[in-house]
Amino acid sequence: MTSQAQAINSVEVFNAPKSQAFSREIEKLIPGGVDSPFRSFKEVGGHTIFFNRGEGSKLYDLDGNTYIDYLGAWGPAILGYCHPAVVEACQSAVAAGPVFGAPHLNELRLAQLLTEAVPSVEMVRFVNSGTEAVMSAVRLARGFTGRERIVMFEGCYHGHSDSVLASRSHSSSAGVPQGISDNTLLVPYNDLAALKHCIDSNPDGIAAVIIEPVAGSMGVVPPAEGYLQAVSGLCTASGVVLIFDEVLTGIRVARGGAQSLYGVKPDLTCFGKALGGGMAIGAYGGRREIMEHLEPIGKVYQAGTFSGNPVTMAGGIATLELLSDSTFYEHLEAVSRRLFEGLQPEIDRHGWPVQLQRVGSMFSLIIADRPVLNYRDSLRIDSARFAHLYHELLRSGIYLPPSAVDAAAISCAHSFDDIDQSVEKVSIALKKVFADKFIS
Ligand SMILES: Cc1ncc(COP(=O)(O)O)c(C=O)c1O
Repeated sequence: MTSQAQAINSVEVFNAPKSQAFSREIEKLIPGGVDSPFRSFKEVGGHTIFFNRGEGSKLYDLDGNTYIDYLGAWGPAILGYCHPAVVEACQSAVAAGPVFGAPHLNELRLAQLLTEAVPSVEMVRFVNSGTEAVMSAVRLARGFTGRERIVMFEGCYHGHSDSVLASRSHSSSAGVPQGISDNTLLVPYNDLAALKHCIDSNPDGIAAVIIEPVAGSMGVVPPAEGYLQAVSGLCTASGVVLIFDEVLTGIRVARGGAQSLYGVKPDLTCFGKALGGGMAIGAYGGRREIMEHLEPIGKVYQAGTFSGNPVTMAGGIATLELLSDSTFYEHLEAVSRRLFEGLQPEIDRHGWPVQLQRVGSMFSLIIADRPVLNYRDSLRIDSARFAHLYHELLRSGIYLPPSAVDAAAISCAHSFDDIDQSVEKVSIALKKVFADKFIS
């Protein structure tokens, strides 16, 4: 056992008896007790928490505990949980017929709203998850260019389709054919020379470069100044399709996504998460010339029984309509800033090795001696101390992603009072973590 693993084992884990009992029960039927491995507590130890309600900025568990939520359901909950307008829109759509398998007006309306919000998206296809959006965009780029290889960046996450599974830990998942991994090239994030070298070494070979414009799975890592523009320039010069994976950043960091924040126009963009207002959604879109390669007008196949269903579309419409009022983003920025402005002086005063990294309402609280700018830096994160912090925060009623590297999220429903309470709770928890000498 590594010293980090030993240290995690020695953490006094949070205990919620009902959740603990059900997590044992569910593990007998669902592998690891979760339908997505991110949700497990493998990294932090202890048992998972079973929630039975979410409202606004709060989550409520089976044991009667209340948490200020910074998971945001891994991204979708930009309005917090159960915004009345979203609930009502979805309920009406269910009552009118939850799926037709034929076009309807909700699809048209959400396509209009999305293409208005993100001008690089001239045409769009709705799917059911971020994974599907990325898988389809990569296939489309390959079909459009007639090339096979794609380039992605170490530490970026693009869902679980075979072509992009080299992302998370350098090694592909078991079960991905070698022939598919061979067509995925990995380069470091925020390193332009490495990307240029990769593209130059594969003349006529690269179909697409896919990038998270703000990385969210190795700590929140913003692009270096001018980096995305330069990536776009390299792609254009070589006829490579530039795909922005905005599954996490889309709608969240700005209405027009990270591309509006940094002033870069990709060829294709993938969406998911916040776009559906809590309903299962994905979407990909971009230049008309490329999108017109999709069946039934082109030769690239992609389909889906539930794609663009009326309920999901209703959730998306309600969300985008609400967010057309800019005061939502102003509030989101104000509460996000207040969290950091509250915590940073505490961190400085104690000299704790804690890095606060944030773009808009995506943030990470990283226990490391210096900021994380790429995947290699993220390996310096002290996951044992994070595990300790995690359980202290659960005890005090704060729910973060159970991972030292994945982005936490703030919602429009967070109040200044939520934030002030959080600053106090996190400061107390950090004091405990750095007072304990359980790790050398
Ligand atoms: C940037 C990014 N792309 C793609 C995905 C995959 O989305 P989904 O989990 O909806 O399949 C995720 C999910 O975490 C993501 O963060």
